[in-house]
Parts: sequence; C-alpha cells; structure tokens
Amino acid sequence: MLAVAVFVSGRGSNLRVILDSPALKNLIQVKAVVGDKLYCPAFDIAKNFSIPVYNVGKKEGFISFDDLEIILKDFKVDLIVLAGFLKLIPANFVRAFHNKMINIHPALLPSYGGPGMYGSNIHRAVFESSAQVSGASVHFVDETYDTGRIIAQKCVDISGVQSPEEIAERVLSIEHQLLPYVIEKIALGKVFVENNRIRVET
Ligand code: GRF
Repeated sequence: MLAVAVFVSGRGSNLRVILDSPALKNLIQVKAVVGDKLYCPAFDIAKNFSIPVYNVGKKEGFISFDDLEIILKDFKVDLIVLAGFLKLIPANFVRAFHNKMINIHPALLPSYGGPGMYGSNIHRAVFESSAQVSGASVHFVDETYDTGRIIAQKCVDISGVQSPEEIAERVLSIEHQLLPYVIEKIALGKVFVENNRIRVET
C-alpha cells in the first residue's frame, strides 16, 4: 500500500475522487490531510473517512512545515498529493520529498501557470486568450509554482464555451480522471524519471 498525504485548501472534490476511486482502494491509503486554513470543506471529507487533519503554516495553533515533515515521515508517507493547495511549499520540504510530491494544475502547463495563476484566474486567462483547448496537468513539485516536470496531461475541447466558469467545469471533470490515473501509475511503480523527462508506462 502506498501511504499518501493529500494537501488541500478548498472544496476537496479531488480529495473525494481519490478516496472514492475503486482502482485506488487496494493500492493506496490516505494517512493525512493537510490544509493551510483553519477550516475548509475538504476537512469534512477527511473527517468522514476518519483521516487526521493537520493545519500547516505560520498562524497561531498551526504546525510548521518542519514539524509536518516529521509527522509525515512517521506515517512513512511515500507520496504527497497537492489537490488544490494554494500555499508555496518551502524549499526544505520540497527537498525532503523530492520526486514524491505531485500537484494537479487546472490548465495545460507550461502555459497559464506560476504565481497568481490559481482558481478562477486561470480559467479567465484561458477564456480571454480564446484558446480552443484547455485541460489538466499533473507534475512533480519543485521550489517554484507550477514548474516541476510534467507527469501527465489531458486536454478538453473548449471551442464552444461561453464563460470561464464553463471552462472550469469541463477541466474539473478531466482533473477527476487524470489525478487518480497518475496516483495509480505511481502506486504501481510505473512512473520513471529518465534524463530529466518523465515516462509513464502504460
Ligand atoms: C482544482 O481545480 C485544482 O486543480 C486546483 O484547485 C482546484 C481544487 O479543487 N489547483 P478541489 O478542492 O479539489 O475541488
């Protein structure tokens, strides 16, 4: 079983998909959910599955990333999944989980990524560019926003959309397919880093 921690900041639909995935049921165990807020709806999902929740950051009562590293290592976490987590991960923590931390981004990287490119900002930028396709990307996490090596991407046609919200909806349904797919491949040992490129065995 792959021991997994999921980091969240919001509604937690990707967390729910991971927890509900029949393909992942016998492959992974979500040991911890981590948020950068005192409360977000994703915490309720964790609690329904009896998964411990940790609050990380500098606010009072929150734990530091250094303490979180110790906790996750105690849990022998093999993979961290950033599923809508908004805070930049400190460099030390990134190094501690090198090639063991992935992020789902709701656009086709390397476009529409970087600081400020989150949530509705992304879909508005895609809409205003008149791009005809968008999609989701899953990548390893490095020290800067959205620049780590891309593991997998999936496109969606947005040629007929009327609003950024419509793009968000189409992309979210793609995210819900792509993220469990990548986690499954990692759990099965089918994701390789070779010459700075990522290869996923089919
Ligand atoms: C998703 O679009 C994810 O790609 C982005 O934030 C959103 C989180 O959605 N980084 P949810 O909390 O999983 O519903």
